[in-house]
Amino acid sequence: MAATEQELSAVFEQTIAADQRIEPRDWMPEAYRRTLIRQIAQHAHSEIIGMQPEGNWILRAPSLRRKAILLAKVQDEAGHGMYLYAAAETLGVDRAELTEKLIANKQKYSSIFNYPTLSYADVGVIGWLVDGAAICNQVPLCRCSYGPYARAMIRICKEESFHQRQGYELLLAMVNGTEAQREMVQESTNRFWWPSLMMFGPPDGDSPNTRQSMAWRIKRHTNDELRQRFVDMTVPQSEALGVTLPDPDLRWNEERGHYDFGEPDWDEFKAVISGSGPCNAQRLAHRRRAHENGAWVREAARAYAEKQTAKRTGRVAA
Ligand SMILES: [Fe+2]
Ligand SMILES: [Fe+2]
Repeated sequence: MAATEQELSAVFEQTIAADQRIEPRDWMPEAYRRTLIRQIAQHAHSEIIGMQPEGNWILRAPSLRRKAILLAKVQDEAGHGMYLYAAAETLGVDRAELTEKLIANKQKYSSIFNYPTLSYADVGVIGWLVDGAAICNQVPLCRCSYGPYARAMIRICKEESFHQRQGYELLLAMVNGTEAQREMVQESTNRFWWPSLMMFGPPDGDSPNTRQSMAWRIKRHTNDELRQRFVDMTVPQSEALGVTLPDPDLRWNEERGHYDFGEPDWDEFKAVISGSGPCNAQRLAHRRRAHENGAWVREAARAYAEKQTAKRTGRVAA
């Protein structure tokens, strides 16, 4: 006799409570599936759109060494997008459908990639702060309750830590260089600090999905907890670099054992998320163009796959 929905739901709840993984073949509540599809798609889109701000500097890298590092990093982000689209597909969606939604502006990606990259110091600061924030967000996702997502995150996090280091290493070279280079690093830090804090999402009081996601063990920490962790981790790094973080309220709080810090501009965050950031239109237009230009590759792959199937099954391809 087939299990009732109530029985299936009980098994699901037990699996979550025992901190075991839900796998694609397992029954799961529709809302859990939908939440994961939305989160994984948003994450995959962020990896792919995130190639643009740094890709902008590949042709202008100051040396062959810097170009090789940046190329490797940007390629990693493409790979992250691919793993994540594959993880989303285990939930019954098609990556083509997700890409369509992205270019039709019906699914979001991280707000951080809607800011421009104005100097080569931005490559370093993105590695340091943006990949650094991504690591804080993503390490707990390695223990996410959905198996394919958790496993994808393990590999992604290893590569993110290389990204963070390559950024920091570039900044170390620059702050030990000329006065003009030090100024570039400071100027870039000033632009990216607040948008990096916004990467953790709205404050907990304003984040309606957090509770349910934590109950399902998709999320392990709240936005504010992760933001605090990031600030605590980053302040000593900024001191080692000799750059100032642009927040007059930033100071160590002995009692809390954490740094206090100011409030990001949540109006700016909302504006960027809803499409009016400095580069939203440009990022989407670029992605749309790349998708259209790739149509012949998809057609060729489809024709090849049909030919192979026809060969295997003895049918003649039309
Ligand atoms: Fe990535
Ligand atoms: Fe990265």
